[in-house]
This record gives sequence, C-alpha cells and structure tokens, in this order.
Amino acid sequence: MANKKKPDGRSPIGVFDSGIGGLTVARSLFEFLPNENIIYVGDTARLPYGTKSKETVISYSVEIAKFLLNKNVKMIIVACNTASSVALHRLRQITKVPVIGVIKPGCKAAIAATNNYKIGVIGTLGTVQSYSYKTQIHKYDRNIDVRSKACSLFVQLAEDGWTDNKIAKMIAKEYLADLKESGIDTLILGCTHYPVMSGTIADVMGKRVKLIDSGKETAKEVKRILDRLNLLNPQRSPGKHKFFVTDFQKKFKEISERFLGQAIHDVKKIRLS
Ligand code: DGL
Repeated sequence: MANKKKPDGRSPIGVFDSGIGGLTVARSLFEFLPNENIIYVGDTARLPYGTKSKETVISYSVEIAKFLLNKNVKMIIVACNTASSVALHRLRQITKVPVIGVIKPGCKAAIAATNNYKIGVIGTLGTVQSYSYKTQIHKYDRNIDVRSKACSLFVQLAEDGWTDNKIAKMIAKEYLADLKESGIDTLILGCTHYPVMSGTIADVMGKRVKLIDSGKETAKEVKRILDRLNLLNPQRSPGKHKFFVTDFQKKFKEISERFLGQAIHDVKKIRLS
C-alpha cells in the first residue's frame, strides 16, 4: 500500500493493540523516545484478540495498519503479543515502513538473561498456540528449553485492577505452578497486560526467576532501529501523543492510568473499515 508522502524523522510512530493493554508498551516508548510523536490505536470494539483465530486477528491488524499508514507513520509497532505472533508477515506485505512486533525483542532479552537455558513464556491462548516465542527462541538457540502457559484470566484481572489481591495471587499460583516446578530462571511476560501484574507474578515465581517485559524490550529495540535508519525525530520538544479507540472511550480513559502511568484526557473514537 502506498503512503501519501514518504515519512521522515518528524513523522509519527504508529502503535496498535487490541485495546488498552498496549499502553504498557506505549509507556516504555514514551520513556525511551520522549521526543517522538506517537499515534496509538486500541481496537476496543473487537478485543480480546487472544481468543480469536489467526485469520481474524490478521484481518483486524491489516485494517488498523491501513488507518495508521493513512496518518503517514514512519513505523508501525504491533504492541499486541497475539497480533505480533500471527500478523507481522502479512503487515510487512502491505507497507514498506518497518513493522516491529514485541516477540523478537522479548526473546532476545530472555536469552541474554537465562543462565540455565530454561525460559518460560506466559501469554494469551492465541500467542501460546502460535508457538511464536518458542519458534523465535529456537531460531537463536535450539538447546533452550521453552515452556509456555496461557494465563487468560490475567487480562481481566489487570483491567479490573485486581492485580495484587488475594484472588490475583490465588489465580497466579494456579497458573504458574508448573512453570515454577519446571525450574525456569527467566519468564517472558508475553502479553500486554501482564506487566501490570508483575508484582504478583514475581511473588509467586520467587526471586530466582527474572521477568522479561517484552514491551519494554521492544521500546529499546525501536530506538536502536530508528537510530540506524536515521529516522529519530530531530525535534527537541516533547512528542505529541494521540489516542484512538474503536469503542468504549470512557472506560479506556478511566483505566488508562494503571497501564500508562498517567491519565489520558483526549481519546477519539474511530471506525475501521
Ligand atoms: N493485547 C493482547 C496481547 O498482548 C491481550 C489482550 C487480548 O487478548 O486482546 O496478546
């Protein structure tokens, strides 16, 4: 798909997620790239993506990418782990701008962190069933033992703010028991919502296990890529941030602080076609 004019350093970065969770990725982007203009799209009308088929997630992702390309973005960051697991290849077919997912940066960081070559991955059902993390890790090193577990309820707990109460801890213990037992020393938080639950996850897994936040690793990688491509924004002033959702603007604004660390006041509703 052709862009209107060739994006340059001053063009915005497009970020998208199935909904609110991608704000944990946006938070890291704001931290590492404070001068970048960022356009965020949350597909709140159609979430969750984690329980949908590959074909559906790909078609939703293409629609959002087209919206972002119309805004002349210089890069697309797929903040959603589920969409990153299944849609990157297709998205790269429709644009020449770099399309960056969260899987590879998360894997690289986990490989650098592990000492015993046992890595755990937690994510949505879609992410776990795609084997995206396992496949990526094995591209680097086939000897690494990768254990995965879908922790679907964490998404709802994070959205409801039940991140460190008794129920959260009970559910986390149940989900993580096998991974803990397996002796992994590194655990990838392979879902946008899980960094919000990281305190509880860390408590359950114990001090020996390092947690890897794929979103944070992606933000660091994005900075390196923009630098390499000479596409960092030369402006010295803070970047502008725009937020678009496909539904539930009010709820998005209300719970944004928990995910982003700051309240969002201006959220526009869009229709994707
Ligand atoms: N954003 C999704 C992910 O990171 C989690 C929420 C959903 O299932 O849509 O996989």
